[in-house]
Amino acid sequence: MLDLTGKNALVTGIANNRSIAWGIAQQLHKAGANLGITYLPDDKGKMEKKVAELVEPLQPSLFLPCNVESEEQIQSTFDTIRDKWGSLNILIHCLAFANKEDLSGDFSQTSRSGFNKALEISTYSLVQLSGAAKPLMTDGGSIVTLTYLGGARAVPNYNVMGVAKAGLEASVRYLAAELGPNNIRVNAISAGPIRTLASSAVGGILDMIHHVEQIAPLRRTVTQIEVGNTAAFLSSDLASGITGQVLYVDAGYEIMGM
Ligand SMILES: NC(=O)c1ccc[n+]([C@@H]2O[C@H](COP(=O)([O-])OP(=O)(O)OC[C@H]3O[C@@H](n4cnc5c(N)ncnc54)[C@H](O)[C@@H]3O)[C@@H](O)[C@H]2O)c1
Repeated sequence: MLDLTGKNALVTGIANNRSIAWGIAQQLHKAGANLGITYLPDDKGKMEKKVAELVEPLQPSLFLPCNVESEEQIQSTFDTIRDKWGSLNILIHCLAFANKEDLSGDFSQTSRSGFNKALEISTYSLVQLSGAAKPLMTDGGSIVTLTYLGGARAVPNYNVMGVAKAGLEASVRYLAAELGPNNIRVNAISAGPIRTLASSAVGGILDMIHHVEQIAPLRRTVTQIEVGNTAAFLSSDLASGITGQVLYVDAGYEIMGM
């Protein structure tokens, strides 16, 4: 029943084969979606090469640089989608950044620049990409972003990223309220801890995973593919009545009180 044939899906946030966005891209492809992939460009072109090789089996019809700090790259990404695809059905926002020094120690010592950078890249980018996607989602659409429990509770070391995720979850609700009349749904997946490039920057990530494995009802954490399955579901007509929600894909950890 889960069929994304004929749907154009833009996936952001693939850095390597551990990325949650890679799990999502694989499951969208499996469901039949036509993929566009963006990557974070660097001076030496290393990321472009790495991500291009990784996603090659999924045969994306668009492969574009998109640093969300760059107005020009965002504009160019959506101009290309308009020119090559005509319309967009699915947007996967799966990226975040905070300075490593802001992901441990005292939250009260977060610098102004570190705070702004984390919220610009991790939170404002959802607002901006959604605004750019809106006129291209002429046949309705689905926007999915990735959040973490640290946006709703105080989790050790998550610090400024918790504030960014709280803002992200609020942005999901405001975007869902605005875009609903256009039949565009906006939801967040709150994933359990997974070892990735980004999560490795959070102090004590392995301890967090170990803790979840002991406490979560399913006695484990989750995989990128499980998150990908949920993203595919949220992107499909099976989820046509769901918008503005934060859906926990965390082996049940969030329900536990102790
Ligand atoms: N790994 C976890 O435990 C976990 C849990 C819950 C939520 N998340 C969220 O999932 C998302 C993906 O993270 P991940 O864990 O797969 O790590 P990851 O390192 O694989 O992905 C993070 C991505 O963000 C991209 N990025 C950073 N700055 C960018 C910029 N300026 N412009 C464009 N892209 C930029 C990176 O290139 C990378 O592809 C993030 O929002 C993260 O907060 C992760």
